[in-house]
Amino acid sequence: MPRKEPVALLQTKLNELIFDWSYQFLTPAELEAFAAKRLPASFNAQRDALMCGKFQNVSENREVSHVLSRGERSVLRQGSDSRFAQLVRKLRSGNWLGATGKPITDIVNIGVGGSDLGPLMTSFALKEFASDIQKHSVNTHFVSSMDGGQLYAVLPIVNPETTVFVVASKSFGTLDTFANVNTVKVWVNEHFAPINKTEVDWFEHHVLGISANPKRMTEMGIPPAHQLTFDQSVGGRFSMWSAIGLAIATTCGVRVFERLLEGAQAMDKHFASAPLTENIPMLMALCGVYNREERGINNVAILPYDGRFRHLPSYLQQLDMESNGKQCTATGEAIKYPTGPLIWGGFGPNGQHAFFQHLHQGYDSFAADFIMVLKRKAPGFSPMVQESLADQQELSVANCLAHRKLMAYGSEDGSARNFYPGNHPNNLLAVEELTPESFGAIIAAYEHKVFTQGLIWGLNSFDQPGVELGKKIAENTLAAIQGNSSESFDPSTDRFITLAKS
Ligand code: F6P
Repeated sequence: MPRKEPVALLQTKLNELIFDWSYQFLTPAELEAFAAKRLPASFNAQRDALMCGKFQNVSENREVSHVLSRGERSVLRQGSDSRFAQLVRKLRSGNWLGATGKPITDIVNIGVGGSDLGPLMTSFALKEFASDIQKHSVNTHFVSSMDGGQLYAVLPIVNPETTVFVVASKSFGTLDTFANVNTVKVWVNEHFAPINKTEVDWFEHHVLGISANPKRMTEMGIPPAHQLTFDQSVGGRFSMWSAIGLAIATTCGVRVFERLLEGAQAMDKHFASAPLTENIPMLMALCGVYNREERGINNVAILPYDGRFRHLPSYLQQLDMESNGKQCTATGEAIKYPTGPLIWGGFGPNGQHAFFQHLHQGYDSFAADFIMVLKRKAPGFSPMVQESLADQQELSVANCLAHRKLMAYGSEDGSARNFYPGNHPNNLLAVEELTPESFGAIIAAYEHKVFTQGLIWGLNSFDQPGVELGKKIAENTLAAIQGNSSESFDPSTDRFITLAKS
């Protein structure tokens, strides 16, 4: 790729969010020409269909309705009286009592993938906005991994008599989630038996279910009053706006959750109507496709420079890679061109002391998204500490701008040691201040970017058949470890099965 000089200041804005694509080495005219070549003729119609919940997920034979889940089908559509809001308020106010009459102090969200990553990321990012914390407060914890690794840390610090477990699973059949639930049941029963409480008491007072499959929740023993549902047409990785976002609301409050949805809705409107060179998701999508196809870049580093976005890279990995990591068109033909890139990344300032050496002087090409917050208020601190924290925010902003520029334009003085090739295109998503609205807008922008790229590549962004075969092989492997099958795999796997058995 030839080295390019800065083109111009290229920024577009939606409320507090500034999207800067000055370092994409593309002029608006070039971008428009590329869009004319790559956007499908049906793009506008497909986008309109997404906006009103009519876009077709053809392989799963259903509509795609996550956009409606932050609008007309929102869990808050009955305002503060919705069941979702009532449950959240009851938990946060201390009015939810456990089986032995004690108020709930802890909530443990058990879920994985889309039933974990969005609630985890957003609760972490927005917890400082929890202004309606009453005298009583609840702590939210997240458990996702099938190895029980997170239970090791959470079970010792929560009390079964004052903890509600939120079992979050669209299908209500994911092995990882129910492996965790089983261990929790054993742990609860051990505690409850000596105090004459049973598993039925536990289900009645300590379990909330969130799923698109109410039948399975009932079969498991969750009383209907403690079931929250969402539509099958809301994809798991697009579900943080739905009832799956309960942990966000228990952490931050109902109003913050509502503001999050409002921010996402503002991005929906923008995506639906802004002209191409001002349309943030379309610019993100087209620059991304250009980098993939014209520059051969197969990966995007997500580099947030504000710790509140710490979980964004993992969230976007699922959103983008599970949606567009495919080699099959929506109608089932093989795709012979590159599709969704690898998404990776990490907290930028710490990355500077870890993987940035490779980004500045390593061999490989990459694109990057920087995420930056210009100003941060710290109202709970003394004026002097506030000032010091403000200096730290400036430090972070300066570092973000510096590294971003160096990655784009490089530097050289003729020596090999001081050769920084640059030429790595990047976006900058900046907000004046982080708010629930701007956070919602950023996440919705990424959703629409993924949608647009999926249309350009002609694939179905709303299914995930690729994760199935691994699950099947894992079942067979587990049967061999547990001695329920004598299947032989390969010498290496067989050896480890023997070791795992002994
Ligand atoms: O890994 C596949 C997957 O189906 C994801 O798409 C989904 O978010 C995750 O598992 C969890 O699924 P569920 O919410 O049904 O438990």
